[in-house]
Amino acid sequence: MRLNIALLGFGNVGRALAELIMSRSEILHQQFGIELCVVGISTGRHGHIVNPNGLDLQRALASVQNGHHLNVLDGNLMLDTEQFIDGCKSDLFFESIPTNPQDGQPALGYARELLGRSCHLVTANKGPVAFGYHELSALAAENNVGFFFESTVMDGAPVHGVLREGLPGATVNRVSGIFNSTTNYILTRMEQDHLSFEDALSAAQAIGIAETDPSLDIDGWDAAIKTTILANVAMQADLRPAEVYRTGIRGIALQDVQQAASRGKRIRLVCEAVCSGDHAVTARVAPVEVDYSDTMAGITGTTSIVSFDTDILPRLTMIEYDPGPFTTAYGMLADMINIVRGRSDTRPVLR
Ligand SMILES: NC(=O)c1ccc[n+]([C@@H]2O[C@H](COP(=O)([O-])OP(=O)(O)OC[C@H]3O[C@@H](n4cnc5c(N)ncnc54)[C@H](OP(=O)(O)O)[C@@H]3O)[C@@H](O)[C@H]2O)c1
Repeated sequence: MRLNIALLGFGNVGRALAELIMSRSEILHQQFGIELCVVGISTGRHGHIVNPNGLDLQRALASVQNGHHLNVLDGNLMLDTEQFIDGCKSDLFFESIPTNPQDGQPALGYARELLGRSCHLVTANKGPVAFGYHELSALAAENNVGFFFESTVMDGAPVHGVLREGLPGATVNRVSGIFNSTTNYILTRMEQDHLSFEDALSAAQAIGIAETDPSLDIDGWDAAIKTTILANVAMQADLRPAEVYRTGIRGIALQDVQQAASRGKRIRLVCEAVCSGDHAVTARVAPVEVDYSDTMAGITGTTSIVSFDTDILPRLTMIEYDPGPFTTAYGMLADMINIVRGRSDTRPVLR
């Protein structure tokens, strides 16, 4: 089957996805009978373009990588993202624009618009899921389309796939783990290389995993957003990121890390959401001293980990090593395949 797709966002993740789409085209065709046609690309500063006959993806990659506008491609230019959504006749949209930790906008609005128009939506953006999971799931169900977001937590590891399909009939009582790679990298460098917090942060910025303004990571917001998503999806909670008790790692000094080590412990930014029954869920993100024997103590660098405690499997744990834009892009590709295969979110939707 031919599937018309559009890319809303063409940055690190959107471009990695474009490369994956090209390199996997034979597998997609042979194993799943899918033939993808990219009919639109929308960006913030590089323009918005639509072509119902298909865009030249290789050329799109080359022009944006070289800092050029998408208007070098054959197609119709759109004025803005709203016009793009209106004018791009795509079956499925891949959305990877920046996450807004305040309210999820403008991506939340785009998601409402797309699902309302009966388009499948795959997003790597945490904003719409953290601020609109129940609403958007209901909208997708009403319009008989898929709303998938595998890459929002742990960069494409099949965390949501396990929740959706791997635990039917089980009740998740607790979700815990290390969800933010940047802070884990900083804590690891402080411990292993005896760097001060500031030097470890600079090292994270030098390799491109921390932003110039790193507050989203080091103050625990990114971790709180991911904890919100997992609490709402796995335990049917209705939390918002501001409701997560949150302490970042800004106040952690080298001395704290060394003193913890002298007691046989490591400091980790631990995320946790616990259900005390009837969807009453409390969530927190905070630096915790974990024992060397704890699985979380072995999670170093940019690796992340999630555990689900359920009423049947006492604890199910998944670890993801070496995440990056390609693993994130893979999560989006997997979502698309699962939509085509007819998988859907079978968990009840809060109304
Ligand atoms: N990087 C990762 O490994 C990773 C992992 C998990 C989740 N994510 C999530 O994935 C998303 C994308 O990350 P990224 O690293 O690819 O970010 P990025 O490199 O900053 O790319 C963002 C893209 O969105 C475009 N954009 C911005 N506002 C837009 C709008 N209103 N309409 C259409 N396009 C718009 C930008 O266009 P211009 O460049 O032209 O402004 C750019 O193409 C974020 O939400 C992030 O949290 C990323």
